[in-house]
Amino acid sequence: MAQSFNVTDPATGDVIQKVTYDSEEDIKQALKRGHEAFKEWSRVNAHERSRLLKKWSQKIQENKQDIAEVMTRENGKPLKESLGEVDYATSYIDWYAEEAKRVYGRTIPANTESKRIIVTKQPVGLVAAITPWNFPAAMMTRKAAPALAAGCTFVVKPAVETPLTTIRFIELAHESGIPEDVVQCVNQRGSVAGDIFTDSEYVRKITFTGSTPVGKSLIKNSADTVKHVTMELGGHAPLIVAEDANIDYAVRQAIATKFRNAGQTCVCANRLIVHESIVDEFSQKFASEVSKLKVGNGLEEGTDIGPIINKKGYDKIVEQVEDALDKGAEALVGNKYEVNDDKGSYFVYPTVLKNVDEGMSIMHEETFGPIAPIISYKQVEEAIEIANNTPFGLAAYFFTNDYRKGTFLSENLDYGIVGWNDGGPSAAHAPFGGMKESGLGREGGLEGIEPYLETKYLSIGGF
Ligand code: SIN
Repeated sequence: MAQSFNVTDPATGDVIQKVTYDSEEDIKQALKRGHEAFKEWSRVNAHERSRLLKKWSQKIQENKQDIAEVMTRENGKPLKESLGEVDYATSYIDWYAEEAKRVYGRTIPANTESKRIIVTKQPVGLVAAITPWNFPAAMMTRKAAPALAAGCTFVVKPAVETPLTTIRFIELAHESGIPEDVVQCVNQRGSVAGDIFTDSEYVRKITFTGSTPVGKSLIKNSADTVKHVTMELGGHAPLIVAEDANIDYAVRQAIATKFRNAGQTCVCANRLIVHESIVDEFSQKFASEVSKLKVGNGLEEGTDIGPIINKKGYDKIVEQVEDALDKGAEALVGNKYEVNDDKGSYFVYPTVLKNVDEGMSIMHEETFGPIAPIISYKQVEEAIEIANNTPFGLAAYFFTNDYRKGTFLSENLDYGIVGWNDGGPSAAHAPFGGMKESGLGREGGLEGIEPYLETKYLSIGGF
């Protein structure tokens, strides 16, 4: 008998739906079908692929409210954030529906009259994607849209915590006219699906958003068949506030970037590094605004902070907070929890920690929760040293109105995404991705379609 798993609401612990696991054989068959469908799909002209992508985006928008409710139920994020994520997700489809028509090659002047040199771009083939629970819609379309636009076929395995949004998106893709074998969804545990994907001779590219350890193992396992890989991995974003910054503005932006999705994003500001001359004023204003955030079920009006996805996530947060408090940090607000272990629901109140130092685990391990540690610095060089003192390099933020300091910071922060007086740089039209152990490759923007393309050099002789 086919095995299934429960998708539960992290706010209540209630089972929302049972989903059947695809067997190993089912997944292998899906990959085979995706591989076979590639021959035809890669020949569909770019304008037609663009038209189908636009239709998909439109269908998702027509179902926006229902999708957002499903997303809030399975992920826990406030409904306003789920509605925002539906828009964010379709913005990738819209962007790549246009980019499909702009996959240009080039001609190169030859060094002899007898030759012509032409460079063309071709889709890499079947793409297998593994997507995370924290953005079940946008992380999927950020991969599927450029893949389909380029002419690749696509199989996605969503997170077992949040498969329902993805399943709905794929149904809507089929209703829009994208053939069933061109875009498919399979449900399985990550490790099982990951091994099948990396072992498969049909898969030419693996794209993954998730933890750095899993990303490393996918990279290793892709080596045997030399697959293309795009990896969006962990982050530990610093947010620097310089002495000249507009403090009220920096507080608002820091709240937006820190507490989105209850702090469960890879680009969340995880270390607030504030100049010593303003650290007291900043901390007091920040804590006062944080205390106004409403914690609760994401479906309730006015909720700002939903539940933590599961017990494992909750335990890690508590561990980091306790370690910091034991070592001398002070909680200005928060450090409060509402837990129902029997049902499996975990709420963490947004917490601001002051007097943090680099000896605390929260300064080195990725935080996936609504905890904001504040550390002070004296010189800008010291702020950069603290910021770069991590194996991660995804997003960094800083606040200053001094253009020399800003330029110095932007040039010296080892991060793929840098927000200068901007706590929300993510956008479909810009390249998202990290340096160091935060990943390989970029998603979004002009750069985001390149990883789905091969370059072919054609040399024609005999003229
Ligand atoms: C992430 O947390 O991985 C994605 C966040 C974003 O796209 O802004």
